[in-house]
Amino acid sequence: MSLPTVLVGRDGVSSLRLNATRPVAAHSFLSRDRAEAGNIVSRLSPENEALAREIIARYPRPKSAVIPLCHLVQEEHGHLTDDGMAHVAELVGVTAAQVQGTASFYEMFKRHETGRYVLGICTNISCLVLGGAELLARAEERLGIRAGSTTADGRVTLEDTECLAACTDAPMCQVNYRYFGQLSDADFDELLDDIASGAIDEVVPAHGTLALVRQHIPDDRVANIGPPEIQVAPQWFTRREAYLAPTDVEGGA
Ligand code: FES
Repeated sequence: MSLPTVLVGRDGVSSLRLNATRPVAAHSFLSRDRAEAGNIVSRLSPENEALAREIIARYPRPKSAVIPLCHLVQEEHGHLTDDGMAHVAELVGVTAAQVQGTASFYEMFKRHETGRYVLGICTNISCLVLGGAELLARAEERLGIRAGSTTADGRVTLEDTECLAACTDAPMCQVNYRYFGQLSDADFDELLDDIASGAIDEVVPAHGTLALVRQHIPDDRVANIGPPEIQVAPQWFTRREAYLAPTDVEGGA
């Protein structure tokens, strides 16, 4: 199955489009089940090992392929398993500690099992002033968990994230690193409903599936880059004014 075009952003206007060029992996997130069944499979599959060797061949030095190979392990297993990292080390000719030392620098590599969906809500400054903390509280209440944990059914891992580098679309969140921006409460509830029902599977692949995703940014989304004298106030700043504007209250002037 090929990954469909993904509209990132719930408004249908301001969207990044992601197009995948290779099949989505069908890894298991609940390797806990496998472990309980005494059937731990945490090295790369023969198919992915062959792909790993292809990837290694693209680099002048095998160890330069550590990061893409860690993505491959995460895509297959849902997180970076010890055996998966040992397999990467074996393939590129370094120690497992060196692989772990590299991977542990990057937040996107998970050393623990996650839910099928990793929902990250930005509470950094632009999102914070536009309701990011309220969205996080809303998610915690609806999912019944605190940020940093996973629902009992293994479906959702909730994260409180730092800036997602998409401040112009604040408040932002991401599901398996696919972006959803300018979220109203209603948008966010709809997103949570889609996660609960699985409807989001049509646009968001399983956690860990990242490889060869091409990103296209429409012209009207290009960053506001230029000398200070030609820069205008960022979009989120204008929306902040609307967000803070007094609302009509009963009996008010
Ligand atoms: S502050 Fe939220 S995306 Fe930058």
